Amino acid sequence: MFERLQGKTVLITGASSGIGEACAYQFAAAGANVILGARRIDRLSTVSATIRAKHPSVTVETIELDVRNSKAVDQAVSSISGDIDVLVNNAGLAMGTDTVDNLSDAAIDAVIDTNVKGLLYVSRAVVRRMKQQGGGHVIMMGSIAGIVGYQTGSVYCATKAAVKAITESLRAETIGVPIRVTEIKPGMVETEFSVVRYGGDKEKASSVYHGIEPMTADDVAESVVFAASRHPRCVVADVVLLATGQASATLAHRKYFNMGFHPGHFSYAHRCHGRLRNKLIFAGVTLWLASTVIAGVRRSTGWTHNSHRLASPPPPPPVQINMPPNDERLQWLEQEYVAAAPDAATREQRQAWVSAERARVAWAWNRSTMARNHCNEAKGLMTWYLGVGERTLDWATRKISRSQHFHWQSPPTSTLPPTSSLQPPPAGESTNSTV
Ligand SMILES: NC(=O)c1ccc[n+]([C@@H]2O[C@H](COP(=O)([O-])OP(=O)(O)OC[C@H]3O[C@@H](n4cnc5c(N)ncnc54)[C@H](OP(=O)(O)O)[C@@H]3O)[C@@H](O)[C@H]2O)c1
Repeated sequence: MFERLQGKTVLITGASSGIGEACAYQFAAAGANVILGARRIDRLSTVSATIRAKHPSVTVETIELDVRNSKAVDQAVSSISGDIDVLVNNAGLAMGTDTVDNLSDAAIDAVIDTNVKGLLYVSRAVVRRMKQQGGGHVIMMGSIAGIVGYQTGSVYCATKAAVKAITESLRAETIGVPIRVTEIKPGMVETEFSVVRYGGDKEKASSVYHGIEPMTADDVAESVVFAASRHPRCVVADVVLLATGQASATLAHRKYFNMGFHPGHFSYAHRCHGRLRNKLIFAGVTLWLASTVIAGVRRSTGWTHNSHRLASPPPPPPVQINMPPNDERLQWLEQEYVAAAPDAATREQRQAWVSAERARVAWAWNRSTMARNHCNEAKGLMTWYLGVGERTLDWATRKISRSQHFHWQSPPTSTLPPTSSLQPPPAGESTNSTV
């Protein structure tokens, strides 16, 4: 499948790590000679030694190269002898996750100088060579960030949109020359990319991939090698590669929202990707599940200090609706005050007042009795379900019953005349009750 690459020369920028490094191994495995460029020459030496050991038949060259330096790029390209059949324009980076209003000059310059100007310097030098040699293939490393911008990615997204524009322009410019131009736009790939973006913080970098399986550098390199190895009459013009759980630059399915706790859930970097609402839902559901499981274990094993009470839910106590047993004031009203009325009409009126007062007192008494019964019932159920100690519940009940929840409706107001007018009957007057 890749035999067309045998003996070809492939120049790869940014070959000291990640996608570029993976491309170097895969092109070498396909029999192509590779020229590797990057700033970290020690890393390139390691890659080159690995390739030589595995594929002794291919040649490997390393060039210390900073693509931001146009003169150095021209020199490096002119130092390459022979044809350059394929250029993999891969060197690139993102720096920080700042919003537009917080961007530093350094971050703007580094990213634009590398991803746009550097890519143009390399393309210019190599396309000149390809035109002279009568053909070639330029493969640009774009990104899905070049299709849709996302928060805190303004500069990086802009540079990758520029790569798309440069690719299309170059393809249009080279239709009369057999130069093929390809753009590969990967989504989430786990490389050193995020470590560089977060200034070397590996924990933040790895949290970018929490809950999702990102692509590997090899996954992308396979597409690069595939594109480069097509028949010369065919161009793989545009390839978008996404991690399986990813739909776009901004939409990814993170499994731990459904499956449970992940240490990255509460990490700083996660806050850029997750939402507080999800964390609260997660914490609430976890607490509820944990308490249900503990209660279940306690019920089924009898593992509790008051297990004898937990064998079955207690029957709710009967609701009693009673008058207060010894309301002396009511007794006095009925026995003395009504009976002492000077005439039948007054007695009838006094009796009506007393009946109204009796109803009012009964109302208040019944409500407090019902509230007490509800509290006891809830307490019993909680003791049974949760295995909470009774003393704790007594304390909670006292708190609740003192709170405003049980005073939401005031009892009917008394219709009795002021107490000052309720004098006991004069001595010697009849005290027989008529009620
Ligand atoms: N990882 C992702 O999720 C992802 C997604 C879409 C697109 N991409 C693109 O894929 C490309 C490779 O990224 P990666 O994921 O493989 O990241 P990486 O592991 O950090 O590799 C970046 C490479 O670029 C090189 N580089 C950076 N600045 C350079 C400069 N001024 N001159 C020369 N080389 C330079 C680095 O080498 P030195 O530091 O040694 O110079 C390194 O080899 C980038 O263009 C990136 O935008 C990545």
